[in-house]
Amino acid sequence: MTEIIDGNAVASEIRDDLTDAIETLAAAGARPGLATVLMGDDPASQTYVNMKRRDCEEVGIESHHVDVAGDAPAEDLYGAIADLNEDPDVHGYIAQAPVPDHVDYREVIRRVDPAKDVDGFHPENVGRLVAGDARFRPCTPHGIQKLLESAGVDLEGADVTIVGRSDIVGKPLANLLIQKADDGNATVTVCHSRTDDLTAKTRNADVVVAAVGVPELIDGSMIAEGTIVIDVGVNRIEADTEKGYELVGDVEFESAAEKAGAITPVPGGVGPMTRAMLLYNTVKAASLQEDVPVELP
Ligand SMILES: NC(=O)c1ccc[n+]([C@@H]2O[C@H](COP(=O)([O-])OP(=O)(O)OC[C@H]3O[C@@H](n4cnc5c(N)ncnc54)[C@H](OP(=O)(O)O)[C@@H]3O)[C@@H](O)[C@H]2O)c1
Repeated sequence: MTEIIDGNAVASEIRDDLTDAIETLAAAGARPGLATVLMGDDPASQTYVNMKRRDCEEVGIESHHVDVAGDAPAEDLYGAIADLNEDPDVHGYIAQAPVPDHVDYREVIRRVDPAKDVDGFHPENVGRLVAGDARFRPCTPHGIQKLLESAGVDLEGADVTIVGRSDIVGKPLANLLIQKADDGNATVTVCHSRTDDLTAKTRNADVVVAAVGVPELIDGSMIAEGTIVIDVGVNRIEADTEKGYELVGDVEFESAAEKAGAITPVPGGVGPMTRAMLLYNTVKAASLQEDVPVELP
């Protein structure tokens, strides 16, 4: 029987464990604080920011928010970032992407204090991750590692094919899974839009991770019997629903589930894990900055 990997359940366990760590920090006068900074009024970004703030409230993390007008000069955003770098109540923060076209997101990331970079995108943190000394693992790849662990997947010597080479999912996940570590030790193939014969790469894998942004690109014919399938994709497709759309992943769930050993659903798979791991990184940031040791899940 195919196991449906329940991201909501795993995320909920992690959040429960984090609540204990947050109480330990608060008792030491160091309640963790997470800030979001949003430039412009992109509705999807506003939704993400609101979700992050709600998540914080639920586990006892202080949330802070800064808005910057979408037509303001880049220096206004840099000023907000400089303030957050100095704010002792903010242990971690997110510079929400996308930023308006006149702002270079890479420059934004470079200005974030690496010690507060709970996304794990700053070049210093990317370098540490590649070197096997991660301070903050980016939230989505870290969440995927936790899902694989929860499903009892033995990665040692496993062939993992990741479809997608983005800086936020594909690349950091590949770097994490090749580390000489208990939650690494895999042999990783990274595919992208120029890959020849994608099916040969996915069929050869024990684990397939789809992080493409193309609705239902990977179907059952592209995987071997028993494959572990992690679907990162979140795509809106038109549908006869109240909202006029439905969410689908990068995997065609029905045909893939017939052959998979275990598979994540969309929604309810990777998404809740990304959110939980942001809380995890915030707690870790607070623990490091305040020098209060806590046990992390
Ligand atoms: N659930 C979550 O928490 C979460 C978090 C992050 C992202 N997501 C979702 O995951 C998906 C991917 O996000 P992302 O930010 O990683 O995407 P991205 O930056 O757009 O990167 C997509 C990657 O897929 C590759 N690609 C595109 N079409 C392809 C094809 N036909 N065959 C093979 N590879 C192809 C691209 O190749 P090139 O590099 O050659 O262009 C690129 O490397 C999106 O649906 C996004 O919404 C979900």
